[in-house]
Amino acid sequence: MTTTAVITGGARGIGRAIAERLRAAGHELAIVDLSPDLEEVAAELGALAIRADVSSEAGVATVREALERSGRPVGVLVNNAGITRDAIVHKMTEEEFAAVIRVNLGSTYRMTEGLADLLVDGGTIVNLSSRAQLGNVGQFNYAMSKTGIIGLTRAHALALAPRLRVNAVAPGFIASAMTDKMPAEIRERVIASVPLARPGQPEDIANTVAWLASDESGYVTGQVLYVCGGRSFS
Ligand SMILES: NC(=O)c1ccc[n+]([C@@H]2O[C@H](COP(=O)([O-])OP(=O)(O)OC[C@H]3O[C@@H](n4cnc5c(N)ncnc54)[C@H](O)[C@@H]3O)[C@@H](O)[C@H]2O)c1
Repeated sequence: MTTTAVITGGARGIGRAIAERLRAAGHELAIVDLSPDLEEVAAELGALAIRADVSSEAGVATVREALERSGRPVGVLVNNAGITRDAIVHKMTEEEFAAVIRVNLGSTYRMTEGLADLLVDGGTIVNLSSRAQLGNVGQFNYAMSKTGIIGLTRAHALALAPRLRVNAVAPGFIASAMTDKMPAEIRERVIASVPLARPGQPEDIANTVAWLASDESGYVTGQVLYVCGGRSFS
């Protein structure tokens, strides 16, 4: 059965690469994003475009309505939308702190709670955590949100088994708009610390997500897979 893969934040970067890879695996696509490029990217990929803020209850309701209206069975949910608002501890504003928790952690929780019953039996959910959950200076809000996603992944894996599988991918430094924003000096230092001696590419993450979304990982649930060139333990 051909099913739809729903990818939040799929209009660019890692999310777009995941969408392309899941399309190659035979899925129909639904891309949920707020980006001005959403409709254009969705048209290029032959995807259903759903313009919604996945961090809000109303946004998740919009996604649900659009999927129900499409009449397509949903097989995969990838909770990929995420933001950074970096600052060191005493300089981080309440707003920066709350925004990252709301978007990264809140959207993963809301989308899963709001859509899990729409997924077909045997469906899969993949959440985007980060290698940064191990702790990065200036990213305590981000690290908290991505650590929370791991707890959520395990709790949802248990709550939704045996009907659905839920796993997380924790990317390291991936060449993307998110990491392009980093000061050049820090970027170079991080890349130099990667045992596999290169930045990751969005396709490295997309391939892992596609495996977790496929039957080949059929006995894997509640796990976190670090895709970071070895940086999680170096
Ligand atoms: N880039 C990296 O090095 C890296 C490393 C580890 C983890 N990650 C995680 O991977 C995911 C994707 O990262 P990326 O680098 O591709 O990011 P990106 O900033 O390039 O893309 C994120 C996409 O999410 C969308 N988005 C943001 N908030 C949204 C909301 N509330 N509702 C709907 N859409 C929203 C944006 O419009 C954008 O299209 C994120 O969860 C990020 O935290 C990235």
